[in-house]
Amino acid sequence: MTWGMRNRLGRILHPETGRGVMLAIDHGYFLGPISHLEDPGKTIEPLLPYADSLMVTRGVVRNCVPPGTDKPIVLRVSGGNSIAGGDLSNEGITTSIEDAIRINASAITLSVYIGTPHEKQTLLALGELVNQGERYGLPVLAVTAVGKELEKRDARYLALCCRICAELGAHFVKTYYCDEFERVTGSCPVPIVIAGGPKMETTLDALRMARAAVDAGAAGVDMGRNVWQSPEPVRMLRAIRRVVHDGASPEEANASKE
Ligand code: R5P
Repeated sequence: MTWGMRNRLGRILHPETGRGVMLAIDHGYFLGPISHLEDPGKTIEPLLPYADSLMVTRGVVRNCVPPGTDKPIVLRVSGGNSIAGGDLSNEGITTSIEDAIRINASAITLSVYIGTPHEKQTLLALGELVNQGERYGLPVLAVTAVGKELEKRDARYLALCCRICAELGAHFVKTYYCDEFERVTGSCPVPIVIAGGPKMETTLDALRMARAAVDAGAAGVDMGRNVWQSPEPVRMLRAIRRVVHDGASPEEANASKE
């Protein structure tokens, strides 16, 4: 890995601990104005101080994130699908590497849809993005997406997906938490962060998932809905930080008044 690549990745996953708390706020690229993300700028503003990095599209960066921010941007560069369309897996690259550099992105990211009719196109897009990322020192985050098929999220499938992403050169991978998560982290040679998935019933449930994921070898979280759809988003994000960075138990993190 080049110096620039290491430096950028180190802004997202802390160089000493390898841990990171990413705030996922890219959902509008296929979901439009999803609940609590109708005005992304308003959602982002109070959360920004407590996120290590922001995962966003170029439209949201340019219009809703203050350019003076020192938070690293993980730029989603894939899309072309929507919840109103026929097949969520039919994604392609939407944003050039030059635009990612102009935005001063610290990493670029896309989704891959393994086991779908668009497996090959999304995996080849990952390969091409890694080629471009290597050229300019920009790390690539591969997201193992499942579209509407949430039932796919088991250790066998997710281990397959994460490993393939790493084999194709992804510098880190985002996937879902599942039972026997050690099987996923244990067979993937690059860091894994977990998505939160749909909003869980309680904040404690989401904190327990984050704790279990980190204990099973995850580098941290790239969480969205369980943070900004929570009744107290700032408190939730701070609690997640305590779990990921301070080793707090879910109960300790949830009980904290700060
Ligand atoms: C899909 O919309 C994106 O990749 C999200 O960034 C990802 O699903 C993480 O967000 P959440 O925690 O809401 O699942």
